[in-house]
Amino acid sequence: MSGNRTFTMIKPDAVGSGHIGAILAQINEAGFKIVAMKYTKLSKEKAGEFYAVHAARPFYGELVDFMSSGPIVAAILEKNNAVADFRTLIGATNPAEAAPGTIRARFAKNIGENAVHGSDSDENAAIESAFHFAGTEIFNL
Ligand code: CMP
Repeated sequence: MSGNRTFTMIKPDAVGSGHIGAILAQINEAGFKIVAMKYTKLSKEKAGEFYAVHAARPFYGELVDFMSSGPIVAAILEKNNAVADFRTLIGATNPAEAAPGTIRARFAKNIGENAVHGSDSDENAAIESAFHFAGTEIFNL
């Protein structure tokens, strides 16, 4: 299973702008299977915990406020080479640098409100998936 799954969130900016459907369609069309999915809202505490790795960064407070500001869609995605392929699909963190046609180029507003999250390693994909989903909420399709 290692290497075949990644974790994503559609962030409050993209949810609020009505882009859930278009983003999920692009994810499916790129060959990812959705094996778990949840429409939810992070508390400030949970957002802080999820992004604890960035706690020392100057943008941490802003990031936590933003990620707890509205609903998100959390999902686990499956595909060969999932982590790397999904990062290619979403584009650079800063949408100004994201390749044309990528999810962030299409839907992100700026580096903070950047439409989607994608895990940066297999290890973090597993940690982030377990943060949001119980085993009974993950399906082998
Ligand atoms: P994400 O992939 O979810 O992981 C960490 C997030 O921190 C990142 O997307 C951005 O939304 C946010 N981030 C990274 N750099 C900055 C920055 N310079 N200013 C504000 N937010 C940032």
